[in-house]
Amino acid sequence: MFFIYTYIMRLVFATHNPHKLEEIRQLLGSEIKLISLDEIGCNEEIPEPFSTLEENAREKTRFVKENYGYDCFADDTGLEIDALNGAPGVYSARYAVGESKLPLKEKFRANIKKVLREMNGESNRRARFRTVISLHLNNTFFLFEGIVQGHILNEPKGEEGFGYDPVFQPEGFDKSFAEMTLGEKNRISHRAIAFEKLKAFLRSRVNPRA
Ligand code: IMP
Repeated sequence: MFFIYTYIMRLVFATHNPHKLEEIRQLLGSEIKLISLDEIGCNEEIPEPFSTLEENAREKTRFVKENYGYDCFADDTGLEIDALNGAPGVYSARYAVGESKLPLKEKFRANIKKVLREMNGESNRRARFRTVISLHLNNTFFLFEGIVQGHILNEPKGEEGFGYDPVFQPEGFDKSFAEMTLGEKNRISHRAIAFEKLKAFLRSRVNPRA
């Protein structure tokens, strides 16, 4: 008699954003069962107290493991503009309005306005989006990075996407992220690159011969 044993890895994704959860659930496939923060009873905001993406991502996974006992991964993304010495960087979400409870769309608009103001008259417009993923698995931390290079436009273009998409044009393209469909953006984005690395790593753990 034969038994076919399929190992399914269970991992918490430390995000309160249901869209991200669904997107990454699809990307990772059925060998990895993603568990949401809601499902483990974590309704609190996880602190992001550090000044680097790496430390904040790592802290989120440490927090979940320590307080809820689950292996876990978390991501953190920033827009890094050379002429602004890497700002807004780790503060990308809070750049213009801090911790205010404004609706997301208004925060995004205010952030874009501030970037354009700071970059007014600046000829060096090089920038990149950088995503860092921290994975806490079997008491070990792992980091994965995804970068997309580009430049800051002089004015917003396009209606798709979110955040700084209307003012970011990726290298090799003649349109902003906000002029791309979600499918187009996801083929080249910082987040997609980082999550593909995570996926390859997890697959090699689930099935070492893959
Ligand atoms: P988070 O770490 O994914 O929550 O991203 C932090 C902030 O970076 C967001 O609030 C957005 O302002 C910005 N951001 C992250 N990813 C993107 C993106 O793909 N396009 C535009 N802005 C982004």
